[in-house]
Amino acid sequence: MRKKVIAANWKMYKTPAQAQEFVKAFLPLVANHDRDEIVLCPSDTSLSVVIAAVAGTNVAVGAQNMYFVDEGAFTGETSPVMLKAISATHVILGHSERRQYFGETDETVNKKLLAALKHELKPIVCVGEVLAERESGKTEEVLLRQIRKAFEGVVAGQCASIVIAYEPVWAIGTGKTATPEMAEEAHAILRRDIARTLGQEAADAIRILYGGSVKPENATALMNQPEIDGALVGGASLDPQSFAKIVKY
Ligand code: 13P
Repeated sequence: MRKKVIAANWKMYKTPAQAQEFVKAFLPLVANHDRDEIVLCPSDTSLSVVIAAVAGTNVAVGAQNMYFVDEGAFTGETSPVMLKAISATHVILGHSERRQYFGETDETVNKKLLAALKHELKPIVCVGEVLAERESGKTEEVLLRQIRKAFEGVVAGQCASIVIAYEPVWAIGTGKTATPEMAEEAHAILRRDIARTLGQEAADAIRILYGGSVKPENATALMNQPEIDGALVGGASLDPQSFAKIVKY
């Protein structure tokens, strides 16, 4: 049985004070919840306060992005070494908003994935098709291209610490959720490909999350699908009550 991961992607929301306020309200709501792994991904400026606020609890903390080099003249970037140094444990990579607005490519996602693994950060690697790709029947082709490039150089034994997030771009922030069946089908495509390239054991170990308008009302139906190993939640993770309801779907 794969332990599910329920992760919050706060995107560019919350000051450090607001992040701290969230944690204070959220922790009592999920105390002793160990059925699932819980991860909060605030913006970089709130990482340290959130890490301090959850210390000793069942909640882990990750960044929303990083660069793939340890240090250097890369103005504005954060390195895996820096994330490790403040005890972040996870990092979201290749989110569609980074691909769309900040020039992230399958190649940079691959470099970042290898860098995260090298530094023992747990990557949450995002893939997903845009609406035009789904409507023209290209979903499988897009997912396979993204996943194969992202995983170049990854070995089977690393898959247990890698999380994939299937986030159909048309479902992000739109209120349109993929049906549980649509998500299930996309997850199966991804897992079958991991099995083909890295073996069945690696495919059985890797967690594949669904993201895109996950809410308390639709979480149970999605999480009950056998191929869905958790959720990456944007908008509905900003409120402690709402995110706690998703955690406890
Ligand atoms: P929403 O839950 O707001 O649709 O965002 C999903 C997402 O992008 C999580 O990474």
